[in-house]
Amino acid sequence: MNEFWKERVILGAQKKMRKYPYLKGIITLYLTVLLLVFYIWNGLVSNTKKLVSLAVLLVFFTISCSFCAPMFQGDMEIEQQVFTEHLETEVITLATEVEVPEAEKAVEEEEVLPAETGVEEIINPEAEAGDDIDNYSSDEILANYDPKDLELPEEESGEASADDWKLLLVNNRHPIPEDYEFTLGTIRGSLQCDERIIPEFMSMLQAAKEDGIDLEVCSPYRTLERQEMLFDKKIKRYMNRGMSYMDAYKLSARVVNVPGTSEHQIGLALDIYTDSYKTLDEGFEKTAAGKWLRENCSEYGFILRYPKGKEYITGIEYEPWHFRYVGRSAAQEIMERGLTLEEYVEGL
Ligand code: DAL
Ligand code: ZN
Repeated sequence: MNEFWKERVILGAQKKMRKYPYLKGIITLYLTVLLLVFYIWNGLVSNTKKLVSLAVLLVFFTISCSFCAPMFQGDMEIEQQVFTEHLETEVITLATEVEVPEAEKAVEEEEVLPAETGVEEIINPEAEAGDDIDNYSSDEILANYDPKDLELPEEESGEASADDWKLLLVNNRHPIPEDYEFTLGTIRGSLQCDERIIPEFMSMLQAAKEDGIDLEVCSPYRTLERQEMLFDKKIKRYMNRGMSYMDAYKLSARVVNVPGTSEHQIGLALDIYTDSYKTLDEGFEKTAAGKWLRENCSEYGFILRYPKGKEYITGIEYEPWHFRYVGRSAAQEIMERGLTLEEYVEGL
């Protein structure tokens, strides 16, 4: 290891640096190490001149490294970025391609959906707020009447007309007229309705009883205040589950008519259930009472007002317990043709 060797090494390093400028840092490091070894080898420690040279070399090495380090760091950052982007693309592709099994999908959806969107939630709040409404069995109601008053009265004759009180259309687009008047009659206790429908209702109750069916009125005539109370109660219930006021309002209006637009307020609608099934939900349609009412109500002037599959017309969820008095000839046509009151009135 002599001066000639040293010159050769330096020249070789310079040549490599020119050829591979991006390896300047590594070549410099390599050269420094070699020169260090060279000077140590040649008795560096006892020679002041050479010691100064070493110091210069060390300074040179440090400076070179400080220049090279950011250069390498930059390269590393770019490589890291390219790798990360590539990885992200792979992950996205994988996520798109991998099919989530149906069962898992259902669980995911269940977690996202509001808890109350099913049939259970369509329970009429009247069923929960009925403590102040008397509840009588059909026997208890019928016991108050003379049997001869329970016979089906003569039907009024005349053409059906949209002006007929029996056919008054009340829904979310047709509020109760401000000047609408009628007289309340009492079925029994606090159970009230338009007095004109009581004879046919009593005949229906009697006929059902003769067929072994118990019918009970759970929601008769309602005041505006009561309708407001039921509607507000429904909204609050939805809001307690985290819904906004507007969402809660819209959902409530599918189950409880907006105050001022309920047929219960004009005394022509009755919610009817039976002793063995006192829940206002879809299950009522399968009970003997539910079936009997659908098959026979029109004979007594009543219709199933909110049928299944016609929600887009009525704006109200299916209610197999809500019966509206319209008069016998209209009821028979409506039930036979599977119409809603909206469709029937439009055809007049
Ligand atoms: N539950 C019926 C739709 C009403 O509130 O009139
Ligand atoms: Zn009702």
